[in-house]
Amino acid sequence: MKILVTSALPYANGEIHLGHLAGAYLPADIYVRYQRLKRRDVIYMCGTDEHGVPVTISAEKKNKTPREIVDQYYKSIGESFKVFGMTFDNFSRTSLPVHHRLAQDFFSKIYEKELIYPREVEQFYCVRCKRFLPDRYIIGKCPKCGSDGARGDQCEVCGHWLEPFELVEPRCLVCGEPPKKTRTKHWYFRLSQFQDRLGKWIESKKGWKDTVLTFVQGWLREGLEDRPITRDLSWGVPVPLAEAKGKVLYVWFDAPIGYISATIEWAEKQGKPDLWKEYWFDKETRLVHFIGKDNIVFHALIWPAMLMAYGDYVLPTDIPANQFLNLEGGKFSTSKDYAIWLPDYLKEFNPDPLRYALTRNAPEARDTDFTWRDFQAWHNNELADILGNFVNRTVAFVKRYYDSSIPEASSFGDRDNQILAMLRDAPGTIGARIENFEFKTALQEVMRIAQDANRYFDHGEPWVTRKNDPAACARTIHVCMKIVTALSVLADPFLPFTAQKIRDMLRVDPGGWDDGGQSVQVKIVGDTSILFEKIGDDIIKAQVGKLHKETIDLDYFTRVSLKTAKVLSAERVKGSKNLIKCQVQIGDAVKQIVAGVGKDYTPEQMLNKTIVVVENLEPAKIRGVLSDGMLLAAVDGERVILVTTDGAAASGLPVK
Ligand code: 2FM
Ligand code: ZN
Repeated sequence: MKILVTSALPYANGEIHLGHLAGAYLPADIYVRYQRLKRRDVIYMCGTDEHGVPVTISAEKKNKTPREIVDQYYKSIGESFKVFGMTFDNFSRTSLPVHHRLAQDFFSKIYEKELIYPREVEQFYCVRCKRFLPDRYIIGKCPKCGSDGARGDQCEVCGHWLEPFELVEPRCLVCGEPPKKTRTKHWYFRLSQFQDRLGKWIESKKGWKDTVLTFVQGWLREGLEDRPITRDLSWGVPVPLAEAKGKVLYVWFDAPIGYISATIEWAEKQGKPDLWKEYWFDKETRLVHFIGKDNIVFHALIWPAMLMAYGDYVLPTDIPANQFLNLEGGKFSTSKDYAIWLPDYLKEFNPDPLRYALTRNAPEARDTDFTWRDFQAWHNNELADILGNFVNRTVAFVKRYYDSSIPEASSFGDRDNQILAMLRDAPGTIGARIENFEFKTALQEVMRIAQDANRYFDHGEPWVTRKNDPAACARTIHVCMKIVTALSVLADPFLPFTAQKIRDMLRVDPGGWDDGGQSVQVKIVGDTSILFEKIGDDIIKAQVGKLHKETIDLDYFTRVSLKTAKVLSAERVKGSKNLIKCQVQIGDAVKQIVAGVGKDYTPEQMLNKTIVVVENLEPAKIRGVLSDGMLLAAVDGERVILVTTDGAAASGLPVK
């Protein structure tokens, strides 16, 4: 059986962040590493998606050419993937000639079959820029929520999907000019013709993730419509028709073809130019596409329809799409720079702790949240205290008391046998989870072995038996070393760098997955090092501080009316330790404000201070007491410190 694995091709217009990793990359790498340990015929393809409006807009914003942008990010994305331990067999790019040729071949062949046809359409045209505007080049007010700055394909504020013509007061993204509707011609793919075939095909995919099936069935129920697959852009794969001069293929038409061209490039690099066909033209090949949920429709409907239209190629076997990862309660956002970027992470930490955190918390069935606190807790309490501790205490014991040679054991008791039986079963049970794309549970099972192993070590008390029952001590340590060896295999797909470190300590290659390190004879342990050094609070604090919060413009800021105010009177709110009710003078007005400062200030301490308040906050009741405004204070963990003026100042002054 051949296995062909792909991860969504990232746009070459920015770095990779943790949300990307959790969605389409890390699970695929775990899957592939596992398949390799199973000694299966697996190849793993990826590369950068270098066309389309995401790239041209980035280029325009940064005052560079699209070519400069894609060259820059092809290189940097590839490098950080490598350091993170991604093991693609080929990391290609869609701007290569081999890809252009193949994408054009797809278009031509499907066109010859009359499954692509031209249609006259109206499209926005910018007179000043002298060009047609693809949907993301037009911005305006969202027809649904009214917020300004909605894109021609979607409003990011309310999430509504829309068509450019629906925008209120549309304008050109580049020059701000209102665009004109103009007639143009585009080529459409007859997706509607594949409704029945896709329906039947999806019917046969009972084992797919529910989230994916539900999504796809929704689209099928709505009825599939023909889709335009050309764009008026100067960057992309030219449409291979004389009458389509100046037009390129829509990026979502050419991008998935990149999976094939990456395989062709790989085969050429191997010196076996036809090798790719053995994967793509064999109907038995298991083709698995790892993606994030925003890519489902393209991979589960449009791409299979393209493959059906072309003929010959294998269709996807499974599309284990993930949900989204959020960041400290907010959405990852490239445009707002609210993200943890992979190269930044790698400057400060090793890859495995992140691989661990992202798998432990994988958004497999629902959206999940990444927080630095979880990252720290899981690293310190699980990787260091459970896995690292077990391996290090065992190996240290062997070095210290057995002169680095593993002791032999002649007979085993129930408890030993139980552990040994668990080790024999582990490759099967954990493997089944991985094959079913349940990486989170698979990892839990690996960690359970380490947990049980610590208990076994504690129960065996080798530090005691060493003196009073040397045979028992040897038995315990012998079994513990079996567990260490097993972990160096079973943890490998998830924590490859750690697994390698353990194997270096054992000075052997424990072999394949099914054996799980059980028949290798480890005789001696080599150099040892601590697997996980604890990560301190200060390091985590610094990372949290680096996260860019959303930026606001001055206009937005001035909507908050900040004023100086003098505290005229203050008293505690009955029944509350923390709340203080004050009357404050703001120019001519007197307002009542309830503030949570009672743990750090007495009412007397507040009297006569000149503080800063938000004057135009909607009044609210706090513990039944009216609060008409809010005072400002710095929050240092549990402690609050009032914001006051530097020296005397009248009340009611604007604070800017
Ligand atoms: O959403 C994205 O980032 C796209 N560049 C994914 C493309 S996947 C495949 F079709 F190439
Ligand atoms: Zn313009």
